[in-house]
Amino acid sequence: MTTDFSKGLEGVVAGATSVSIIDEQAGGLQYRGYPLDELTNSVTFDGVAYLLLHDDLPKPAELAAYRKTLKGLRGLPAALKGCLELLPKSTHPMDVLRTGCSVLGCLEPEGTGRTQRDVANRLLATFPGMLMYWHTFAFHGKRIETDTAAPTIAGQFLELLHGRAPDALHLQALEVSLILYAEHEFNASTFTARTITSTLSDSYSAVTGAIGALRGPLHGGANEAAMELIERYRTPEEAEAGVMQSLSRKEKIMGFGHRVYKTHDPRSDIVKIWAQKLAAPTEEGRRQFAVAERIEAVLRREKKLFPNLDFYSAVAYNRMGIPTFLFTPIFVMSRITGWSAHIMEQRADNRIIRPMSVYQGSPLRHIGQKV
Ligand code: ACO
Repeated sequence: MTTDFSKGLEGVVAGATSVSIIDEQAGGLQYRGYPLDELTNSVTFDGVAYLLLHDDLPKPAELAAYRKTLKGLRGLPAALKGCLELLPKSTHPMDVLRTGCSVLGCLEPEGTGRTQRDVANRLLATFPGMLMYWHTFAFHGKRIETDTAAPTIAGQFLELLHGRAPDALHLQALEVSLILYAEHEFNASTFTARTITSTLSDSYSAVTGAIGALRGPLHGGANEAAMELIERYRTPEEAEAGVMQSLSRKEKIMGFGHRVYKTHDPRSDIVKIWAQKLAAPTEEGRRQFAVAERIEAVLRREKKLFPNLDFYSAVAYNRMGIPTFLFTPIFVMSRITGWSAHIMEQRADNRIIRPMSVYQGSPLRHIGQKV
């Protein structure tokens, strides 16, 4: 009987994928063979969504048609709106999306002419509206239309949030951020989605489970925790002293470290540039960015740890005027694409995911036996 196992499945290769690869020798992450920095420089998030869900980048006419399709899918069924209205203001928005996804799965189930890709597109198109419908109703008592004039998902979200056409820099930054968050091979939430799919369950169940996995602060929830950390300090000096104290108490600093990357997270390099651009115009922004950079310097010096995607994403979102509790839901609005690509891939070549465990419990015993 084996007693060896890899805690947290570290180093375990649990399957094959053609969706993405982390290739540190070739400069980092690639989606279906395309380097991430090329994608963030030349494609919008909906183009990347198409790439992940259709295997290749869209031609201009295909992108136009895809945008039209997604725009046509933005409406929420009345029954879903009714459910969202029942959720209290105190609900975490990740729980809102988890619930909304599940409700939509009751109203528009997969099958009967609705494919996994159809479900992916519907969820991609409805998550921003689901989130902002609940948010506006819970916080302002208003029922909103979830479609806007904005042609892209990033624009739709910002317009629903701020009630006006988005600022051009904010829009560009959010497009980049959604691309960065879209896909990351066998991370915890994607593996959850694949595991659920492997039982021949439906896409909504897989995505609902994935949202639950993403919610935790060791995964997607880290961007909210990182913001809470940065906001604790007014100056770089205060930040240094505070982080040193946290480290002396052996606390984890959210937004740092990674299971797969060992020296740096290439996605962080890209988002940091955007965070700085967004922070530069105001005194408050420059102060906040200086605090974030000092936290980074302390973590590098003391623990040889580097920021992951979540750390500077938090600064970028804060500078766009996005409330902290909506940060992880933005991750969902993006990662629905990667999850769905993996759900389709798992279904196309399925075998149930069922690993083994090392037993560490009581030796054999019998009812009534004296111990
Ligand atoms: N702060 C302080 N110490 C850390 C951190 C951190 N953020 N990350 C790792 N370490 C330390 C651990 O304490 C541990 O030290 P030890 O060996 O002395 O006990 C060592 O580095 C290894 O860390 P593990 O937690 O074992 O690494 P693991 O690969 O299991 O976890 C993870 C990776 C979850 C990302 C971890 O680095 C972490 O908790 N980071 C903070 C949460 C976070 O930012 N998550 C976002 C991930 S990226 C994403 O979802 C987009």
